[in-house]
Amino acid sequence: MPNQPLDIPLEKIPRHVAIIMDGNGRWAISRGLPRLAGHKAGTENLRRVIRATVEFGIKYLTIYAFSTENWGRPPEEVQGLLHILEDVIDRELNELHGEGVQLRHIGRLEKLAPGLQEKVLHAMKLTKNNNRLILNIAWNYGGRDEIVQAIQRIIKDGVEPDKVTDDLVSQYMYTVGVPDPDLIIRTSGELRISNFLIWQAAYSEWYITPTYWPDFDKEEYRRALETFAQRDRRYGGVTEAVAHKTHG
Ligand code: IPE
Ligand code: IPE
Ligand code: MG
Repeated sequence: MPNQPLDIPLEKIPRHVAIIMDGNGRWAISRGLPRLAGHKAGTENLRRVIRATVEFGIKYLTIYAFSTENWGRPPEEVQGLLHILEDVIDRELNELHGEGVQLRHIGRLEKLAPGLQEKVLHAMKLTKNNNRLILNIAWNYGGRDEIVQAIQRIIKDGVEPDKVTDDLVSQYMYTVGVPDPDLIIRTSGELRISNFLIWQAAYSEWYITPTYWPDFDKEEYRRALETFAQRDRRYGGVTEAVAHKTHG
């Protein structure tokens, strides 16, 4: 049933989905391939998932592509990942632009080669007025790094302590203006946050699947959204049904 529409009421479709695209290496090893082949397959899958996100009518997608800790991998792998990033921009930018996708980078750009930084900035500038899907690419992103930078900027701006509120801190995050993720998907079965969107994930729902990222297809994406639609998001409160019961 690949083209079956989503069987979810409109108000239960998450506004913002964030994905920890994990398991590329294990996907490759399980096929006797080098890890980089897994990253290539993962990138192909990302194209499909972006298209599905647009089709499902989701407004914001954030993908974790490279963490501040991933520099600790073997240099060939890091280089390979950098090439893939460049290649994706070269090959996909025009098509994504044509589809109304706005590209944003979150994380530290300064560690990338100047030519690649320019490409990323160009992609952001070119697509800045698109609004069908806002795609945040977390590259050289770390949640703690983001919070540390926010604190530094708040202090530099001379903000009075009693003016430091939840809302103000959010304004200093890379994701300013973007609603917090409703749903975070992590592939490959790991049960951890790995320094992703620490501030923003306070009340996100999680969908964790053993599927490796290159195999996470539209059907499983649909299942993740359908599971999300069943969740009871209480935000520390009580559900309507329970509240009525306890009050007689
Ligand atoms: C996720 O896949 C991609 C990146 C972190 C860049 P991994 O490369 O972490 O794959 P595993 O976890 O080793 O299988
Ligand atoms: C998280 O995956 C980072 C990305 C998917 C980019 P990792 O593979 O780096 O996470 P750990 O090391 O298993 O926590
Ligand atoms: Mg991993």
